[in-house]
Formats: sequence, C-alpha cells, structure tokens
Amino acid sequence: MENIKDFNSYNKEYRKSIKSPEQFWQEKASHFLWRKKWDNVLSWDFNKPEVKWFEGGQLNITENCLDRHLEKRGNQTAIKWIANNPEEQNRCLSYSELYDEVCRFSNVLKSNGAKKGDRICLYMPMVPELAIAVLACARIGAIHSVVFAGFSAQSLSDRINDANCTILITADGAFRGDKITPLKDISDEAMDTSPTIQKCIVLKRTNSDINIKSGRDVWWNEEIEKVHKNCTAEVMDSEDPLFILYTSGSTGKPKGIVHSTAGYMIYTEFSFKNVFQYNEGDIYWCTADIGWITGHSYIVYGPLLAGATTIMFEGVPTYPDAGRFWKIVEENKVNIFYTAPTAIRSLEANGMEFVTPYDLSSLKVLGTVGEPINEDAWHWYDKEIGKGNCPIVDTWWQTETGGIMISNLSGVTPSKPSFATFPLPGIQACLVDENGIELEGNSVEGRLCVKFPWPSMARTIYGDHNRFRETYFSVFKNKYFTGDGCLRDENGMYRITGRVDDVLIVSGHNLGTAEIESAMDEHKNVCEAAIVAFPHPIKGNGVYAYVICHNSPDNKEELRKEINDLVSKIVGPIGKADKIQFVSSLPKTRSGKIMRRILRKIASGDTEDLGDTSTLLDPFVIEEIKCGAL
Ligand code: PRX
Repeated sequence: MENIKDFNSYNKEYRKSIKSPEQFWQEKASHFLWRKKWDNVLSWDFNKPEVKWFEGGQLNITENCLDRHLEKRGNQTAIKWIANNPEEQNRCLSYSELYDEVCRFSNVLKSNGAKKGDRICLYMPMVPELAIAVLACARIGAIHSVVFAGFSAQSLSDRINDANCTILITADGAFRGDKITPLKDISDEAMDTSPTIQKCIVLKRTNSDINIKSGRDVWWNEEIEKVHKNCTAEVMDSEDPLFILYTSGSTGKPKGIVHSTAGYMIYTEFSFKNVFQYNEGDIYWCTADIGWITGHSYIVYGPLLAGATTIMFEGVPTYPDAGRFWKIVEENKVNIFYTAPTAIRSLEANGMEFVTPYDLSSLKVLGTVGEPINEDAWHWYDKEIGKGNCPIVDTWWQTETGGIMISNLSGVTPSKPSFATFPLPGIQACLVDENGIELEGNSVEGRLCVKFPWPSMARTIYGDHNRFRETYFSVFKNKYFTGDGCLRDENGMYRITGRVDDVLIVSGHNLGTAEIESAMDEHKNVCEAAIVAFPHPIKGNGVYAYVICHNSPDNKEELRKEINDLVSKIVGPIGKADKIQFVSSLPKTRSGKIMRRILRKIASGDTEDLGDTSTLLDPFVIEEIKCGAL
C-alpha cells in the first residue's frame, strides 16, 4: 500500500474516504493476513452506540506484526532497546527473534492457565519483555491491560479489579533515571486487594530483593525454559477485544477503554505510515511509554505492522543529562522522532549545551503528541532539533480514538505552528456549538466531535457500556464528543485549544480532577478540595488545588506535603499538586456545583475579569480566594 505522496492526493483520498468509506477502508485492509475474509465492512449506530468493522473476518494481529514479515525481513531489527543506564548494552531483536520470544511467552501464559478472552494485567518497565508480553497476550487471544509503571498500588489494584484480571505480569523493579521503582513490592500490595489474580509472572530486571509467594508467583526466566517454542496464533474475530487501557474520566473512577482487533490494526498501520511518511528502512523512535496509548499504537502495533525498526527507550530524557535523547538520535541514526511537548519544553529549558554536541542530521521527521504545543516550543524544535529541515507533525488523538486523527502528513500536507491541521482520510471531524449545532465553514470555534465511525475507535468502556454512551455519544446527538475545544482557521486547519471537561492534561498525561480531589479528601484534615489546571512553563498545565480544611493548619507546608504524599500514594506521583491554596470556602452555584471556570482564572493569575459571577451562591468567597492566590 503506497503512502499518500502529495497534497493533491491527500485531498483526493480524503474526498474518497467520505464518499465511499467502506470501499476506502476495504482497500487499506486487503494486504493483511486474514484467516477468513470479512463479510461486511461496516455497520454502525451511534445511539446504542455500536460500531462493527470487518465483521465476519478472522485474523490474529500478531500474525500481521510478526509471521507476515518473517520471510522478507526475518533478520531485520524489529525492536531496538536502549537501557536506562547508558553503560548497559543495548538489545536488538530481529523480527524472527521477536517472533520466537512471543511464541515462547505465549506458551508460558497458557501453561499458567491463560485462555482466550482472559484479562491479563501488565505492570512493567520499558523493556522488550513488555512488548513481548503485549504481543503474547494478543497471540493467545487474551486481553491485555497495561498499567503505567508510575501508578500506585491502589491504582493498579483498582484497574486489576475493574477488569477481573487473572494474571499479573510485572518485574522485580524498574530503572528510571537514578531511581528504582519497586514494581513487585507495589504489585504485592495491589494483589492484597485484588483476589482475582491467580498467577503473577515476575521478570528479573533490577535484581532487587523481593518476596515470592509460592503457588502464585513465578519467575519469567524459569517459566520460559519449561515451554516449547511454537505457538499457533488463536483465531480472533475482527471485533474481538484486543486490549483495555485505562484513562481518567470526569468521575473518580478511571475508564477501561476497550479496543477491537481488526479496525485497530488497519488504522494504526495506515496512520503510522502516512503521518510519519515511513519508508522501508527508516529508524523510528517514539519516546512514549507503552503504559499509554501512544506506546501501544506507535511503539508496538503500528510500527511492527508496517515492518519498521522501532526503538524502545527505558529511561528518562534528563538522565544522565539533558542530552540523552540527542545522544540516542546520533548513535542510532534515528530518522523519525516522536515525543511530547513537555519533553521538548524541558529540554529547551536545559539549554543548547546539551544539543549542540550531537549530530542530528539523520532526522527527517519530528512529531509531537499529547497536548497542545505552544509556538515557542514548536519553533525551538523546528530550528534546533530539525535544523529547519524536518517537518513537524502535530498529532492530535486520544486513548479512545486508538490512532492519530488530526495531523499534517509529514512533508505532504502543510504544517502550521500549534495547529494539528487537517483530519486524516476517513476522519469526519466537525465543530459544534454548546447546543450541538454544527458550525459550518471556516474561522469558527467550538467543541470537537467526529460524526462518522473510523476503524480504531473505542468500542466500549469495560463493564460499563452505559458510561461509554453517556460520556461520548450523548452530549451531542449522533456524534462522538472528544471533550476538547477546538478552532478551525480561515484555511480549514484545526487547532486544539484544550479540554472543556473535568479532565486535566498535565505533562501530556490525562488526569481526572475528581480522581485527585477524592484522594485529597482522604486526608483527615481535608474537608473539600477543588482541582483546576493552570499554565505551567514546562508541563503545559500544572495542578492547582484549593483545599478547605476542618481545622486551620499550624504548619501549612507540612500539610501540603502530607496531602501530596497521599495523592502520590493513591493516584501516583503524576497527580501531585504544584500549588495548594487553603481556603475557607469554594465558589459554588446555587445547585452546589463548583465554578471551576473562576478558580481556573484565579489560578492562572487572571483576577481582573472573572466573567459572569451572578449565579454564585456567595460572591464574597472570591475576594478571599483572590487575596490568598499563590
Ligand atoms: O486534550 C487532548 C490532548 O490529549 C487528550 C487525550 O489524552 P490521552 O487519551 O491521554 O491521549 C494522549 C495521546 C494520544 C486529548 O483529548 N491532546 C492529545 N494530542 C494533542 C492534544 N492536544 C493538543 N494537541 C495535540 N496534538
């Protein structure tokens, strides 16, 4: 399947994808390995909501990521792994080695009782075994649920329990910069409150001292020796769930987003090749963690489906120093580099002395994802990293969308700083006003929706289809609502302006205000907390907490620390508040709803024009809050 090569072809393809979506996607599906061809390309009803792509088709996604490539590129590197510690040897796994490892580990899963349809939780460091475990689950038809290794025991346990996972795969520990995260200790604590886990498979990574509970815990390296090396892939229906991935919602409970098999496969490959304009032989590096959707779609599935060499990095951008990314680019002659605006801003802030020593001439394409990129950071990335020669793709998408939805195609369609630009072929993006009326034409601003299905869209929230409908398909009739505000400029280019719901994007991570608020509420001296975002120079958004205490604290700093320790424990360190302001009450409407709009303004330092405050129950609280603003 040829990539789209110029703006004209993009326009043609886009028009075709709208006029004949079924024919369009059928053409994108035919080069894959199918055990049985589909009967029907698409059936859908956004009211239910129910969306089915390639019904009647049967396949296994790992045969498309691995088996399909063996003949042509068995010896080509599939995954190149770079360790956290620069002294440690890198590891290369060719397509045939990766195939062998996946087959073996599939047999380990089976010998530990896993069956098609079971849910398996992965809580692991960024090592090749994480990708192997993901693919092994898919090979035997088990549904993987990867939990980011920065989450706390409670978050892990909640996610295991929500999906009734029967197996947990983890490691003794994870290296991140100069720290070790004790993954097995955290897993032990999580398993204390997760009774569905029957087996815990433990990978040795940090050689930390850990507890092994006999009968439940087994070592990866011992298990792998006991199994044979062939594993026939399970035959899956197109619509069988491939994985669950949790994302924050506007209530405290995270949502287990469920993705299906065939549609996800087709869309991640298509978008990977076209957005990054991937060419045979390119070295591709996405710096995300597999614990997030970006890692699922654009470290593992998309690149492997396309037969690419995908780099996997265990560490962090600033260890051992802020030149680490650029050193990796130089040493590995990276051609396509995909990262988050937060990382770009933080590396920019560290200064050019960490960039100049490195030869970045291999780079052809730069990408960003996860949050809006401000113009300054865009220009720095363009000038200092791309040396003015690399198109930057600003890719807008979500856990729920499975793949990139709005983005320029590198060097093919025009770019514009801080604009995600145009929707990909097949994506019928639209803007609506607060009443759901579609805003036609250009130079308009509203809420971003999608009015027609695309293959990799989420199918449900695990165990709660009603919430799926309410969150995404009921706000505006017959449309998928993204939760984002967006404008379309005079040329039809889209710019995402940020969330319009109770989700915060902090350092590119999705956090629910309710999740952090309820964690803070657990503190015995916290009566109520309200969380809003405020502009942060590195993280994009910071977390600002307004907290009402039962008793006025003697030592405010100490209480702030206790509150944040609690958030760290319950939600994970990424949820910690940057600023905590103690207040005696919160601005609420007569119906008791916190007026976050006002709190957001005060948190961002804009206390002049607070807009309409007439619906406030007690307008005087605002004066107090303004005076104490941090
Ligand atoms: O607000 C948008 C922001 O991230 C949200 C989705 O977060 P998550 O599901 O964690 O997935 C992140 C990785 C795909 C979106 O609703 N977002 C993502 N990409 C961009 C963005 N905002 C602006 N520009 C982007 N390129």
